[in-house]
Amino acid sequence: MTPAQQHTDAHTATFVVVANRLPVDRVENDDGSVDWQPSPGGLVTAFEPVMHSRHGAWVGWHGAPDEDLDPFENDGLRLVPITISAQEIADYYEGFSNATLWPLFHDAIVRPEFRREWWDAYVTVNQRFADETAKIAAPHAVVWVQDYQLQLVPQMLREKRPDLRIGFFLHIPFPPTELYNQLPWRNQILQGLLGADLVGFQLPGGAQNFVRLVRQRLHLETRRDRIHHPDGRQVLARSYPIAIDAKAFHELSATPEAADRAAEIRRDLGDPNFIFLGVDRLDYTKGLLERIQAFGELIAEGEISPENAVLVQLAIPSRERVDQYRQLRDDIDRMVGRINGDVGRIGRPPIVYLHTSYPRQEMAALYRAADIMVVTPLRDGMNLVAKEFVACRQSDQGALVLSEFAGAAQELRQAYLVNPHDIDGLKERLVEAMKDTPRAKGRRMRLMRRYVVEHDIDHWASTFLNDLDEVGAEAQEREMASSGESPA
Ligand code: ADP
Ligand code: F6P
Repeated sequence: MTPAQQHTDAHTATFVVVANRLPVDRVENDDGSVDWQPSPGGLVTAFEPVMHSRHGAWVGWHGAPDEDLDPFENDGLRLVPITISAQEIADYYEGFSNATLWPLFHDAIVRPEFRREWWDAYVTVNQRFADETAKIAAPHAVVWVQDYQLQLVPQMLREKRPDLRIGFFLHIPFPPTELYNQLPWRNQILQGLLGADLVGFQLPGGAQNFVRLVRQRLHLETRRDRIHHPDGRQVLARSYPIAIDAKAFHELSATPEAADRAAEIRRDLGDPNFIFLGVDRLDYTKGLLERIQAFGELIAEGEISPENAVLVQLAIPSRERVDQYRQLRDDIDRMVGRINGDVGRIGRPPIVYLHTSYPRQEMAALYRAADIMVVTPLRDGMNLVAKEFVACRQSDQGALVLSEFAGAAQELRQAYLVNPHDIDGLKERLVEAMKDTPRAKGRRMRLMRRYVVEHDIDHWASTFLNDLDEVGAEAQEREMASSGESPA
């Protein structure tokens, strides 16, 4: 990908999304040439179609250190790159975002670290995102800020541009008050978020945690999902479970090419009766070790035969300079090696583990080929992989084994729900998903397919943006009433 360079005019963008990452990463090859690759993670998967249909500008980091780039157009999207220095990557991104907030907001699965210099970098970089956004947003534009890396941006942006309509969406869980209160900068983050008119969460529980904290810590008056801000605004806190472009995924997996590729994958795996599939960013929240251990034990105990079943596990490299991620990678390598060494036969390893990123077409073919999708996070805001698998089904066959601790479990109730901490329970669910009758599987999958198609990403974005419009219109009415003007 070679995006054409192009300057973005000041104050012209009427719809702006602000996210830590742009949808493409700038990667420098060994020979000095530059490539652009799709960025990892669910946020980009979800937002690309939203941006394409709404012609917005996307403010974000391009993944490389110390690189000043002009705004440019790529694949029909207007991209506004933010420069982040190598030191800021260490402190703001790897540090505060991914070694403080990420573990704290995911039930402290690993211990969050609280370092003052990381916080300082978080403030500096959030201010930069706010400043750059303030420069490009048109008067009264809609600005939609994304995720935990940018929780101070709504307030910083409002200070510079009170005319903007500001929404915020948190893609990860918002933690219970007992955990959140560990954060030394707990009040600043709440105030940062309250700069938005509408603060969106994946699940109702997250929105309720936030409202409770605002009441307890900032002593603001709240009524259900409404917060009365001291500056006279009403801030809404609601849940909007994020979705995927279900039609696009389905169409991609329905092509003759995807059918051929799916058949080829099955052949290459030795024509097993059951392909179990795992697809994740390599992250300690995803329950990869629990899943691999459960599958390995089933093979070792003879409950599953490597002659007729295989687990294909894709893990996209992620945050590789953060200690816990390095450790996890080593642990997985060791566990897979041990299981394959102990029970594998020539040409029949029970686990096929691939530590790399794949193009969307290949993912669609894999989802199509899979018989049992295994999604076992210990905690996950939503988990789009579960929805992608359902969208890529060509019939009502196939089974989804899904952790109770993924946001998706609140919607995909017909999945084989499981507690991934309970390895025996997980093993039972895997066997059940394998042995259940086609009729039983069909009943479950039919309902999930309908749900995923009806609640797609366009429905999600429209619901959020309509609510943002409403809260903005209410604010305008209040302003007019207080200044004695009548509404237009
Ligand atoms: P998260 O946002 O935590 O990464 P999600 O499950 O919500 O988790 O989203 C992950 C996204 O990354 C999905 O769209 C999935 O298709 C994609 N993905 C995961 N693993 C790979 C891989 N190995 N290659 C390409 N894309 C991947
Ligand atoms: O919400 C999931 C998320 O953390 C996104 O914010 C992020 O872009 C994605 O996963 C991938 O993580 P990273 O940007 O740290 O590679």
